[in-house]
Amino acid sequence: MKRSLQAPTIIRAKRTVSDYDRKIMDRILRDNENSFSYLSFSGVMPLTLPDGTRIVFIPDMHAPAHNQLMLWGIKQFLLDFQPHIIKYIGDISDLFWLSRWPKPPRTVAHAQFELDETRRLIDWLAEDLVCLVRIIVSTGNHDDRFRRYLTDPASGIANIVDFQSREPLLSFHGLLGYKPGDPISFIYDIHERGGYGGGMIVNADMQFRHGYIVRPKPGASPLADAERIGRSLVQGHTHRAGMRVRQVGEKTIVAIELGHVVDVNHPYMGYSNLLNNWHPAIGTGTIAGGKVHLQVLPIKQVGDASKYTLVYDGKVYRSSDR
Ligand SMILES: [Fe+2]
Repeated sequence: MKRSLQAPTIIRAKRTVSDYDRKIMDRILRDNENSFSYLSFSGVMPLTLPDGTRIVFIPDMHAPAHNQLMLWGIKQFLLDFQPHIIKYIGDISDLFWLSRWPKPPRTVAHAQFELDETRRLIDWLAEDLVCLVRIIVSTGNHDDRFRRYLTDPASGIANIVDFQSREPLLSFHGLLGYKPGDPISFIYDIHERGGYGGGMIVNADMQFRHGYIVRPKPGASPLADAERIGRSLVQGHTHRAGMRVRQVGEKTIVAIELGHVVDVNHPYMGYSNLLNNWHPAIGTGTIAGGKVHLQVLPIKQVGDASKYTLVYDGKVYRSSDR
């Protein structure tokens, strides 16, 4: 049976911002004025978030190899959850056109289409989120392909910055068309790379970055990195979802990996196979007592394989063509 890829109707109820949310939004903006003034940031961005802040974490999307069916379900969830912050954990774009791995024959790579799709998805997922104050992207190794591609033959021009904004003229976020003043920040490594040491740290407690350590068992990759840096850590990169907790003296170290939202059958995902042990999931977090309380929400194929199911707070979100 031919699968319909028509978007389900998204019910957009008129939403107003409550006084409670308004106070949280003002506080987030006031306490992070310095961090939010950066369109691109190098290193680990510190954030101070008040109790009640709601965050949604979206892992490896690899647009245009994203899974649109999953994203329809995620969009419904976002409209209900109304996050104050959306945090992308890296590899939002695949940049397949710049891959140096052998490309399968007859697989078309189209630079502009990849960039347009990435920008469209970021903007679409943020639409109608009335409490959203900031989108934050930790860049991944795929997002970094542009810099690596450019650095080889043209390192002399790769680092040129705009005279006024001091933003790099040739950058991943520049290709997506974002400008200083847009409600989004892109975080790179201290050497302006992606996918390595950069990230964000919330309330001096939990760190978030794309990650680079890969272990085969869920939760083992971030745990290896968390033990090295001595604090709780959340990562993407492995496309596995899992959580491990370790007690070190008085300190509890939480290590989380967030899975993926890709279409594993997309031709760009030729390296996906059952042995990879990949898991579709997103993360959701609420700040309480100054700490991030993060839940990994698995996205499951239940019944009809084309229907993805996400459950949160007793409510079922299902991508459906009906
Ligand atoms: Fe990835």
